[in-house]
Amino acid sequence: MFLEDLKKQIPEEYFFYSNSIFNLFDLEKINDFYLFLKENNEIGGFFSKADSERIASRHIYESMVYIYYLKEYVNVSRETSILDVGSGPGIPGYILYCLKENPKVSLLDSSRRRLQFIEKYIKQKNYSDIQIIYKRIEEWTQQFDVVITRALIPFPYNAVLLRHSFINVAAIFSGNIQINENIIQYLKKNNLIIKNNIKILELEFLGERYLILLSHIDRTKKLKPIKWKTLRREMDELHNSNSKPKGWSRQNNIHN
Ligand SMILES: C[S@@+](CC[C@H](N)C(=O)[O-])C[C@H]1O[C@@H](n2cnc3c(N)ncnc32)[C@H](O)[C@@H]1O
Repeated sequence: MFLEDLKKQIPEEYFFYSNSIFNLFDLEKINDFYLFLKENNEIGGFFSKADSERIASRHIYESMVYIYYLKEYVNVSRETSILDVGSGPGIPGYILYCLKENPKVSLLDSSRRRLQFIEKYIKQKNYSDIQIIYKRIEEWTQQFDVVITRALIPFPYNAVLLRHSFINVAAIFSGNIQINENIIQYLKKNNLIIKNNIKILELEFLGERYLILLSHIDRTKKLKPIKWKTLRREMDELHNSNSKPKGWSRQNNIHN
């Protein structure tokens, strides 16, 4: 079902090159999750009407490709603890759990609205090793080896919102982004540095897609969560100072 629908939703040449990506996953688990998303989409309000016809490509396959790249750049084993922030219906966190060698997955969202569906789903399946957390990330102080996020809030504020929650890497699944000196300095002020900014060519049929990997500049420094009020103010300030951008640079591996 998932593979058949995906084939209809993506150009043939993109599907053709996907074997090494599919091989990483338990496709039965993926298929089952796909059916769950389709069946509950309307009642759970997971995706827009237009996207309800593209769940296989725009949501599940997109996450699978991102995870493939994440694994290329970051050590992800059964021992790795990974938190998905703003997980909604479990995307992309639950798809990490569908890896044949799945890491320790936690899904966090401030709202019960969508996450409660995936909580029920994993209970039915007896997947008791997935942690479900109903909290704002600014109010959650547990740390994870890797923290991932997709469609939370715009970059670079999503990175700053996550700054206290990861030990090794924050991985941001992102659309088109513009990185300039202001943004690099803003991240630096928050003890963050972009390690890699990877353009995902396999997802070009969806538009521009990037995997942004960040780490701490000083790993010994203990970071407190940022207050939402402060972040909101900084968003406005940086937005205004960026309205006349200078020194733009967007390239792969910009610090390598
Ligand atoms: C647009 S949805 C994205 C859902 C999913 N990650 C996806 O890619 O489809 C954003 C989610 O982030 C959650 N969220 C927003 N701010 C948050 C915060 N500060 N802490 C935790 N979750 C947050 C919202 O409740 C919402 O479910």
